[in-house]
Amino acid sequence: APAGGLDHHTLERYETIWLGIALVMTVLLFTGVLGSMIGGTFPLLTAGVGGGHGAVIREGRLDPARLSATPFGTPGLVQTPQGLQAYIVARAFTFDPPVLRVPAGQKITLHVTATDVVHGFQVTGTNINAEILPGHVASFEVTFRHLGEQHVICNEYCGAGHQNMITRFIVEE
Ligand code: CUA
Repeated sequence: APAGGLDHHTLERYETIWLGIALVMTVLLFTGVLGSMIGGTFPLLTAGVGGGHGAVIREGRLDPARLSATPFGTPGLVQTPQGLQAYIVARAFTFDPPVLRVPAGQKITLHVTATDVVHGFQVTGTNINAEILPGHVASFEVTFRHLGEQHVICNEYCGAGHQNMITRFIVEE
């Protein structure tokens, strides 16, 4: 019997189609492709082309007035029992350290905080792209696969020197 103008077979076909779509969406979500598409980057592409990918894995809080009592007091790369950690401070209109040398092929956890206003943290060749708020710490995991330079740019308007707010990662052996 027709239900709302659709016969039984049509309904069944719609159900099959929706089931198929749901399945595809689930697979996309689980592989993270959809999430990264929303973020504007294809991880598979960046893994092949840029060499490295990552997203915020953790967020924490930190009093900007007490940075010196933390690893952010001496920004840069440190080897710890948990692996390589890089501490980066964003402030108008610079990143500290201005240049960071990192080994290729090793997992690095980046920790970024801001001291004054909201800044952006985008690493070319990766899908790392986040807002960095004063008083917060955003952490990322990244493995650079290609030797050379990757730029870190502030993509959040933060004042007169915004367009000069840039740093570099030098990926070496
Ligand atoms: Cu910092 Cu724009």
